[in-house]
Amino acid sequence: MASILLTGGAGYIGSHTYVALTQAGHDVVIIDNFSNAGRGVPGRLARITGAPVTCLEGSVLDAQFLDDVFAKHSFDAVVHFAALKAVGESVEKPLDYIETNGQGLITLLRAMEKASVFRLVFSSSATVYGIPDETPTPETAPRRAINPYGFTKIMGEEVLEQLATNDARWAFGTLRYFNPAGAHSSGLIGEDPGDTPNNLMPYIARVATGDLPQISVFGDDYDTPDGTGVRDYIHVEDLAQGHVLSLDALLRSSQSHLVNLGTGQGYSVLEMLSAYSAACGRDLPYKIAPRRSGDVPIYCAAPEKAKKLLGFEARRTLQDMCSSSWNWVAQRPRGN
Ligand code: UD1
Repeated sequence: MASILLTGGAGYIGSHTYVALTQAGHDVVIIDNFSNAGRGVPGRLARITGAPVTCLEGSVLDAQFLDDVFAKHSFDAVVHFAALKAVGESVEKPLDYIETNGQGLITLLRAMEKASVFRLVFSSSATVYGIPDETPTPETAPRRAINPYGFTKIMGEEVLEQLATNDARWAFGTLRYFNPAGAHSSGLIGEDPGDTPNNLMPYIARVATGDLPQISVFGDDYDTPDGTGVRDYIHVEDLAQGHVLSLDALLRSSQSHLVNLGTGQGYSVLEMLSAYSAACGRDLPYKIAPRRSGDVPIYCAAPEKAKKLLGFEARRTLQDMCSSSWNWVAQRPRGN
């Protein structure tokens, strides 16, 4: 059993990882500034795990707050989710992204160093591949930033690599997520974007609940089997399990690792729509719209390295992703 600090632990992936870590026997403390998480999440995490949740409100940009948290608790490792993640917003406000994602990471690393905590799992993204030359995409593919969000994830990865290479005390697990989807089997936590969603799965979910009229399919003339964009969707509970395995590996050895977390299986927009329609019991309305700028036809993980290094394998199906999402959105308490 280890003692873990989870930054951004009330958010979508963070909250599922809280449950997975707790159920694996770890002691977990959450910090979150609730900029993109509901205030009701800690209470619902307590219901799922059957134990009180320690959740402290504050920002990773606040060095004094972090020092206080590290002074009160003795951590073995940190899992760092707290960051901004909307591509379009990053283009409008690049400095916000560089500050929160870049400076937030550095401030956290400083606080860790002061407290002699040298193990960190970092939330990276398949976005670091930009427009990849090969798919399925292996970890050896070149990193290319095509927007400020992607730049901040590349920056984070490079900062950690410099530290691990030059200071033997540090070890990092860098996890490149493909497209997270679905919700917890309890129906108590899931993705809950405040505004109109930008990403496909939460958008489909809003159409399924009747909050939005129809889905726009961005392009049906790509070089893919049905002409619509193909992505590697991974169930958020599988993704959460990837963090448990990454942490176990880091606590066992002082070796850093960098892996894709995906399934290796791609689904098209139309396949997603059809699977979600089956889960919610009605045909969801859609229209074909122009391509979205910056989109690639296919994004798919080469998942072998995560299996070899961490024993990670996604187990849940597309049906599991859609039915758990529907189970969550059909009953969720709005805005908390
Ligand atoms: C997007 C980001 C990526 C980020 C990831 C986080 C862009 C260009 N990329 O990935 O950097 O890491 O989210 O999860 O924003 N689609 C529709 N209609 C919609 C929404 C999406 O047809 O209303 C299509 C897209 O064209 C794409 C697929 O659905 O083919 C998935 O889109 P999305 O969920 O936004 O994810 P990504 O673009 O893969």
